[in-house]
Amino acid sequence: MTRGGSVAVVGGGIIGLSIAWRLQQGGADVVVFDDGELGAWFVAAGMLAPGGEATHEEPHLVRLLEASNERWPGFAAELGVDVGYDDTGTLSLAMTADDLAESARVWTRQKLPLLRPSELREREPALSPRVRAGVYSPTERQVDPRRVVLALRERLAGHVVSKRVDKLSEVDAETVIVAAGCGTAALTGLPVRPVKGQVLRLRGEPGLLRHVLDATVDGRHVYLVPRKDGEIVVGATQEERADRTVTAGGVHDLLRAAIELVPDLAECELAETTVGHRPGTPDNAPLLGRLDDRVIVAAGHHRNGVLLAPITADLIAGLVLDGVADPLLEHFAPGRF
Ligand code: GLY
Repeated sequence: MTRGGSVAVVGGGIIGLSIAWRLQQGGADVVVFDDGELGAWFVAAGMLAPGGEATHEEPHLVRLLEASNERWPGFAAELGVDVGYDDTGTLSLAMTADDLAESARVWTRQKLPLLRPSELREREPALSPRVRAGVYSPTERQVDPRRVVLALRERLAGHVVSKRVDKLSEVDAETVIVAAGCGTAALTGLPVRPVKGQVLRLRGEPGLLRHVLDATVDGRHVYLVPRKDGEIVVGATQEERADRTVTAGGVHDLLRAAIELVPDLAECELAETTVGHRPGTPDNAPLLGRLDDRVIVAAGHHRNGVLLAPITADLIAGLVLDGVADPLLEHFAPGRF
């Protein structure tokens, strides 16, 4: 017996696959259509940062980010393979007095105690002596999105079909879930726009960095996400553009800020340069819920697609399997604009 009838998920990224996995676990007859394009998950560093990535003027979004962050340890464990989930935590850092003035507003709101440069370097010896101040967030962790997508695809073996969907009327299923990132706009007419991010991957000695570093360096935001194997993801530009060009200026700005923060990074191999597009919406909060009797949308996660995957999957699967909209969905209706 299937629950929820036949369900097609359009989009084989971290959001679409997570939803499909929960639906499959709940007994639905589910298929994922994946167009073969590498989505934002391929570029994403995998910071799980509900505090650092949110502007706290959006309390409903903050509640969603925090609820999803709480689900990540269980979600990663349930996948049953190493997906790079690491709970060492994040150091948020300010390089100059001006950077500190800017960052201090956020840190005060988060109620995190300010650490002196010596305390920061005790935690992270490779930091530049120029770093002025910072805070430690034990609940801001990381995961490797490429490993997560691979694990989800394995869990869904036989249910992921390579196919590009151009029109929802072509899809033969009782319920269609559109989780197509930036492609959601063309399929539904909803306002999802591409927000370009250039991201670098460096390769150095394993253990050079311990924490995720999220910093403001001379007014520029940069983050460094170190993996156990020596890879360090450096991100990211934020540009209102749809092109896929890796620019000299983008790479220069990221490397300059990263090396100012951690001088030893200058010795690392520059292993990869990539471009991705965050799916932005007019308020940069996701579109989650019913569009009509047949179509459900789960898109527009902007900077938070990886962090929001577990809660999106649970909420959307609940909507399909039980026919009940969780109150958390209330502020994210796809038709709110
Ligand atoms: N969440 C990180 C970014 O969007 O760059």
